Amino acid sequence: MTKQGLEQIFKSKFNTPSHFFKAPGRINLIGEHTDYNDGFVLPAGIDKFCGIAIAPSPKKSFQIVASDLNDEISFENITDQPVSSHWVNYIWGVIHAFKKRGFTIPAFNAVIQSDIPVGAGLSSSAALEVVFAKAFNVLFQCGLTDIDLTWIAKEAENNFVGLQCGIMDMFASVHAKKNHAIKLDCRSLEFEYVPMNLASNKILLIDTCVKHELASSEYNQRRLECESAVSKMKQNGIKLHSLRGASIEQVYEMKFKMSDDEFKRAKYVVEENNRLHQFVDAISKSNMSAAGAFLYASHYGLKHDYEVSCPELDFLVETVKSLNGVWGGRLMGGGFGGCTINLVETEKIEEIKSNITAAYHKQFGVSPKYYIASTGDGACEF
Ligand code: GLA
Repeated sequence: MTKQGLEQIFKSKFNTPSHFFKAPGRINLIGEHTDYNDGFVLPAGIDKFCGIAIAPSPKKSFQIVASDLNDEISFENITDQPVSSHWVNYIWGVIHAFKKRGFTIPAFNAVIQSDIPVGAGLSSSAALEVVFAKAFNVLFQCGLTDIDLTWIAKEAENNFVGLQCGIMDMFASVHAKKNHAIKLDCRSLEFEYVPMNLASNKILLIDTCVKHELASSEYNQRRLECESAVSKMKQNGIKLHSLRGASIEQVYEMKFKMSDDEFKRAKYVVEENNRLHQFVDAISKSNMSAAGAFLYASHYGLKHDYEVSCPELDFLVETVKSLNGVWGGRLMGGGFGGCTINLVETEKIEEIKSNITAAYHKQFGVSPKYYIASTGDGACEF
């Protein structure tokens, strides 16, 4: 994705000047499935972006070119309902969320180009929603805050795409800051930037290259299980609004009042929240071996208690454990495919990659992909 690339396509298609906006994908260092439980997350924006060239249109119709897909769409009206799994839902969802807040988005022309890999768990869809939200706010002078834009993008995903995701991905894409992760309290939305001083280490993402069908139905199911764990705890006299309010002692106290699944989900969420604070502490002291151990512990919980892993992710985490130069790793994002996130020594990266490729190929017949995650800034005009 480059400004020149966007400009060239926009010019040849619409022959008018345009404005340029971009929004990054994200990684999440630790704090998985905690956002919709009012907990803490630790995402960072990456230096891969979804970019758009956009300009108001003199015509009545909206025209959007998805250049990576070699596809385009033109429409005059926006329905209040999504159209079966079309990429335009992400944008309609955003337009709709503006409308709900009293802003009518007038017709525009746009070209989209992204270098965030799709389906790798790097939130390419959140970046698409955020980049349009940012652009509308600036172009049509809506005067909304960054938090408003975050909610707008989340609403688009929840209502038009159908994933009942939490706020992490959109928040990260809007608020990201180069060389920092964001420690976000998803209950109050207070946040602080945590410097990512990794010294001679890097974040290596290993992409399983699979996405299992159950990902979004199981995701929505986990939310329900967490809610029902909270109701059981409330019924039994514990005062709380969400799993954020529970201690690990309370979860064990309630073990036999809940189903086995409810207990395991609640236990994982409470432990993961605690782990996040310990991880931040370890990173701030450059204690990579402690930080890595928390990553492995997170994966263990996601696999056994939250049950959102899959054979490919487990294989990658098990395999890196035996390699020199790996501090720790775990599945990242919703689970059931996508990437693992690994803290590794920079100088060992090539050796790690070749070992993993050989082992993974032998096991699954395909090669994984690798990304070194460098941090990037949040959504902006460029
Ligand atoms: C997906 C969702 C996020 C978050 C993660 C799991 O990425 O979009 O809101 O819940 O899964 O941590």
